[in-house]
Amino acid sequence: MKIKDKKILIIIGGGIAAYKSLDLIRLLKKNNNEVKTILTKSGKEFVTPLSVSTLTRSKTFENIFDKDSEVEIDHISLSRWADLIIVLPTTANFMTKLCLGKAEDLATTVILASNKDILLVPAMNVRMWIHKATQQNVKILKDYGYLFIGPEKGEMACGEYGEGKMSSPRQIFSFIEKYFNKKNIIKSKNLKALVTAGPTREYLDPVRYISNESSGKQGFEIAEALSRLGIKTTLITGPSNLSSKKGIKTKKIITANEMYEEVKKCLPVDIAVCAAAVADFKPIKKSKIKIKKSKINFKSIELEKNRDIVEFLGKNNKHRPSLVIGFAAETENLNKNAFSKLRQKNCDLIVANDVSKKDSGLNSDYNRVSIIDNSGKIKVIKKSRKSFIANIIAEIVLDKLLINDRSFN
Ligand code: PMT
Repeated sequence: MKIKDKKILIIIGGGIAAYKSLDLIRLLKKNNNEVKTILTKSGKEFVTPLSVSTLTRSKTFENIFDKDSEVEIDHISLSRWADLIIVLPTTANFMTKLCLGKAEDLATTVILASNKDILLVPAMNVRMWIHKATQQNVKILKDYGYLFIGPEKGEMACGEYGEGKMSSPRQIFSFIEKYFNKKNIIKSKNLKALVTAGPTREYLDPVRYISNESSGKQGFEIAEALSRLGIKTTLITGPSNLSSKKGIKTKKIITANEMYEEVKKCLPVDIAVCAAAVADFKPIKKSKIKIKKSKINFKSIELEKNRDIVEFLGKNNKHRPSLVIGFAAETENLNKNAFSKLRQKNCDLIVANDVSKKDSGLNSDYNRVSIIDNSGKIKVIKKSRKSFIANIIAEIVLDKLLINDRSFN
């Protein structure tokens, strides 16, 4: 479906491919979309404000300290106005600025202040693109949630051949179409998700409990990634210092049983992602008063199993979500153990999490995971930030729901 009536903010960067921004503006305008532009100082070396304004039929913004521009529309409003922001071409230098969170001119300030998706369209010499520093920047920016298209392989303006050529205006236009179509489908389907996060506490008495070191980070990131896609998301979390983003309905619980009750109340949903480190067992007896040291039986605490929440969801006859995704924290036989949990709990996907190393897992910013589907196909993700893993899970969720297939492609 062709896009129309969208508000696109194009930031024109400083590279020879800047001239192609004019073609993209023309395509967007031809399809009745509104386009505003920011021309960076180096972008101005390649295209003129006059040519840009002639095509957009509106002012070309250039300077953050331009009082006329700020009166007309300030940098915050400019970022709020847009449905999507595109940086074209995105140079290696510009990527570095974004990685550092710079706000040194209008373009970088608008981006830092933005609450919208930002599409980067890299274009540079092949050596610059494959340089470790650039690739590291790409990884960081993907972690931050920036979208990318290209670069493509081809002959570059400098005469060299390789990866670094900017995607064509047609390719970018079709990327934008797909982006908005996906958003429309999600909106029309009115998708709902629940995510569990954090630890649970199982009390022996009013002050002592059994728990684990889960911080809630992974679950919070997943809730944010799903919500960013436009999915109505409820986050059910055990004790955590984190606070969730606006738009995510958050229920705080303490025990596994409370988590189970909240999950039940949340049904029906289309998607359930269970990232919580739910305590598998709880003390059979909880003393109402603090147990005296002299009365403690140091040899044993009697425990009973907690209800398995993800299994309850996976085997739910009445309200089984279309997609049930479990996690499996393992210190050995990662994929084998995780896959048997997938089977046992009737999940569609399981995120096998290697928690054998100190630099990832519970209470870390990183996880090392393999995502396994119900046919046994495995997608390995090396040690990565939890935000990065959350984005991948959200994309998989979307693909599965939109093509109605529970296995990997
Ligand atoms: O919170 P962070 O510090 O960011 O750490 C994230 C994490 C390491 C906790 C997370 O990435 C993770 O791996 N979560 C699963 C931890 C776990 O308890 O795994 P498990 O193998 O014991 O449980 C398997 C699955 O069953 C999980 O989806 C779990 O949520 C679910 N479960 C377990 C017990 C229970 N009673 N009910 C459940 O739903």
